[in-house]
Amino acid sequence: MTASQRPLPKAELHLHIEGTLEPELAFELARRNGAELPWADPDELRAAYAFTELQSFLDLYYRLTDVLRTEQDFADLAEAYLRRAARAGVRHAEIFFDPQAHTSRGVELGTVVGGLVAALSESEQRHGISAQLILSFLRDLPAEDALRTLREAKPFLEHITAVGLDSAEVGHPPAKFREVFAEARALGLRCVAHAGEEGPPAYIAEALDVLGVERIDHGIRCMEDPELVARLVAEQIPLTVCPFSNVRLRCVDTLADHPLPAMLEAGLLVTVNSDDPSYFGGYVDDNFAGVRDALGLTEDQLRTLARNSFQASFLPPARKAELL
Ligand code: ADE
Ligand code: ZN
Repeated sequence: MTASQRPLPKAELHLHIEGTLEPELAFELARRNGAELPWADPDELRAAYAFTELQSFLDLYYRLTDVLRTEQDFADLAEAYLRRAARAGVRHAEIFFDPQAHTSRGVELGTVVGGLVAALSESEQRHGISAQLILSFLRDLPAEDALRTLREAKPFLEHITAVGLDSAEVGHPPAKFREVFAEARALGLRCVAHAGEEGPPAYIAEALDVLGVERIDHGIRCMEDPELVARLVAEQIPLTVCPFSNVRLRCVDTLADHPLPAMLEAGLLVTVNSDDPSYFGGYVDDNFAGVRDALGLTEDQLRTLARNSFQASFLPPARKAELL
């Protein structure tokens, strides 16, 4: 590989491990576990990836988690992502997982964390990627469920860096989870939240003010509120933007219409990520190439995005300095 072909070293900070489940692996796990799938083969499943908005994607995403049942399944899932991420130039990954999508099906939290940690603990040596876990709460379920999940996670906290908030956004404002995030912070966990993906700019401010998050996942709708943009710039709050996801979930019409250049221009600390790469047409390197081609981003801007990804990470300052 020549230097110009080598992908930029980067961190991936917005990646749902369940969203890396490729159709071929889904069918392999279904066979292994005797799980029924309503599609004939991986191609037929792939053909179902025509989403009209976030909820239509989430319905399929949660349906497919049914094939993930054993520690080995979660380890295989994470290993497949890490192998692909290494080719994308990823040197550090902060990976979401959705415990409630599994415990609600009778899969124990220890099975999920055990499998993921088995792959992540080998990642530095095998793939040159340091990796951390972000436990994410499903915001469309009651706050009491999230609190119970946080308490169930206490035996596993040495493996968990942060908590997050995802799933259906509209109608589930951040403030619903005030108590959960306060308890998470008291346990020493860092805090992030999806906000301003489909939901209004006010959810972004609420996630900062009420939940005390350090980073906003997506955040693209901040561009509708100039005062909010000024605040995000002044405080250098990182936004983990996912261009392919925004197009596939119809938050943005086409990649050429994506607000990423305007966000960079405004001085926001933006990063580029893949969100759910199996569902949205590409991994983080594909997202970088996509925005370069569709939006005409310069090499300098791409390097800024890669540098921002390390800057916005939860890595200790000394490790950040090595990677920057
Ligand atoms: N869960 C997985 N991907 C998500 C997204 N893009 N938004 C909200 N919840 C999600
Ligand atoms: Zn996401």
